[in-house]
Amino acid sequence: MTHAPEISDEEGQTFRLLRQVDLTPEASQRGIAAALGISLGRLNTLLRQASEAGFVRVTDRAGPDRRHRFSYELTTRGATEKARLVDRFLASKFAEYNALHAELTGANATLDTSPYRTRMMSNSFAPIPELYVSYDSAQKLKVEAGTLPSLDLTPRQICDIELLMNGGFYPLKGFLGEADYDGVVENMRLADGTLWPMPITLDVGEKFADSIEPGQDIALRDQEGVILATMTVTDKWVPNKSREAEKVFGADDDAHPAVNYLHNQAGKVYLGGPVTGIQQPTHYDFKTRRDTPNELRAFFRKMGWRRIVAFQTRNPLHRAHQELTFRAARESQANLLINPVVGMTKPGDVDHFTRVRCYEAVLDKYPAATTTMSLLPLAMRMAGPREAVWHGLIRKNHGVTHFIVGRDHAGPGKNSQGEDFYGPYDAQELFKEHQEEMGIEMVPFKHMVYVQERAQYEPNDEIADKDNVTILNISGTELRRRLREGLEIPDWFSFPEVVKELRRTSPPRSEQGFTVLFTGFSGSGKSTIANALMTKLMEMGGRPVTLLDGDIVRKNLSSELGFSKEHRDLNIRRIGYVASEITKNGGIAICAPIAPYAATRRAVREDIEAFGAFVEVHVATPLEECERRDRKGLYKLAREGKIKEFTGISDPYDEPKNPELRIDTQNVDVDNCAHQVLLKLESMGLIGTER
Ligand code: PPS
Repeated sequence: MTHAPEISDEEGQTFRLLRQVDLTPEASQRGIAAALGISLGRLNTLLRQASEAGFVRVTDRAGPDRRHRFSYELTTRGATEKARLVDRFLASKFAEYNALHAELTGANATLDTSPYRTRMMSNSFAPIPELYVSYDSAQKLKVEAGTLPSLDLTPRQICDIELLMNGGFYPLKGFLGEADYDGVVENMRLADGTLWPMPITLDVGEKFADSIEPGQDIALRDQEGVILATMTVTDKWVPNKSREAEKVFGADDDAHPAVNYLHNQAGKVYLGGPVTGIQQPTHYDFKTRRDTPNELRAFFRKMGWRRIVAFQTRNPLHRAHQELTFRAARESQANLLINPVVGMTKPGDVDHFTRVRCYEAVLDKYPAATTTMSLLPLAMRMAGPREAVWHGLIRKNHGVTHFIVGRDHAGPGKNSQGEDFYGPYDAQELFKEHQEEMGIEMVPFKHMVYVQERAQYEPNDEIADKDNVTILNISGTELRRRLREGLEIPDWFSFPEVVKELRRTSPPRSEQGFTVLFTGFSGSGKSTIANALMTKLMEMGGRPVTLLDGDIVRKNLSSELGFSKEHRDLNIRRIGYVASEITKNGGIAICAPIAPYAATRRAVREDIEAFGAFVEVHVATPLEECERRDRKGLYKLAREGKIKEFTGISDPYDEPKNPELRIDTQNVDVDNCAHQVLLKLESMGLIGTER
């Protein structure tokens, strides 16, 4: 049974005071005292204590008659304290109820809450706690937070904070502190035992971390500098990222997108602490399709829906999905919520703008009275089983009662050995194990295939006459190939409206932009081959070609940079950024820097593959040959120690493991090397075959 937290009178009065100041910040002392039912003297004592504790700020607004008129504002810390006290009161009321229940019935009541976190009562459509303060307090906090140390959140952190603040990640109160993090990593539980499978952490760079001490408040801003929230930093630590990778994602292998993010994009230090929400991140797109957990709960309440099955997706919907979702709704006798992720999905996925246009086209094919669609601003981690449980908890917070879990749910693809990270049904098993505790039921996904003779979709494992019928299926890879090559996509597979949208954003590869990145030692021949390739592509015409040669970039874009790891990374990321813009706009970018670090090359690949093909060409001239040629005389200087950090001599070079093409320049002329690249581009469908 829950132990009832002791709540002193003092705490009770502090809570009421903070609530009153939050509600009526302009009220006079007399007004506040009356609202609280205490004397002016007592109020003065309370206000003094609250202001000394940093919960309330008192401003003296002496009027023209010189009489003091004080106004009282809730500080960030005050808002956090208020939220903490709310939790304690609720916990105490739950405990009282349970004690009474036990006394009356002799049995333990199940109405239970952990001492520090509020839990929803059984009606899943009651409002869920959010981390936002009232509008008035938010306006004030925003001004106050302007002077706090401030952190610009990354796109992934912005997704996380939106769901933290709106209750999507309930019962989290902020970014995880160290004890909660350890629990989540080790056994999928917060320090108090609550089930939570995914570390929601605020990773920051060492420089920022060094400037912050636990106990301090910081302002969290979006990428344009708008303050979204404040956080009281309670914990600061350097995580063991390899352990996190092993335990949470199943392997410390950079082929996993989230492990790659962890090691190569996330900052070295984690900060944790409660978050006070000021405003939600702004979205300019598909506004009417976005709902907070409470908005969705209110919608279900209004519609009288009691059972809702959610379909999570990061892909366009085709006929098989429609059939599957129909079946899921029928089997669970529930209304259907199409709930696509529009935050961050797997690198290389169809962008969410295109997907939502596709979903909208398909929505017409569902009965409007029983189906709705809502977009979820989640940053996926592709963590398979743990991710499925996480998705379930998030959906539960949104008022959903049933959740479809498919084969290889939130799968990250192959590991660096070419094997699957997780078993195909691991996610379903883990979900099943925890579904009771989660309070949301799994509807296992059936693999639907098209049976030509019966002209309908059927679950693959339920087809008894497999030997006598023709089973048709088009995989995601096959679909991408057909789109890329402009091939037919049959009507039995998808809806014409969806195919039209997909074709609009994915024209055949020969009409898309792309990037060629040459990488290799200084003097390996990168620039010379790149120049020859550019000339050949310009001769062919059709698309604009830009050459971003190492030396040229360093004269223009990166003139202030040296050759430290940090500077080289910055240089390559800049090249990648420009190349991704060129690729996005249908041009050809040819880049020829040394680009010595595999992780940075991979980051650039991800930036570019969002818009078109990325062709990595390793100019594999051996170091000895480059040094023998020494066309710029730099190797000699590097050997003499006159140039420091020289690639291959006194600085590392990670050989590309799986480049699209590797060229050995020894005994091969430049023209032939460039021709090898052209042939590769042709085989990838990037240039026409007429030449
Ligand atoms: S990197 O690592 O990708 O940022 O390097 P990059 O921008 O391609 O610049 C490499 C050219 O700079 C000259 N140079 C050096 N290279 C390597 N290490 C050190 N320390 C260094 N100092 C100067 C060198 O001429 C490289 O030109 P390329 O065209 O590769 O021969």
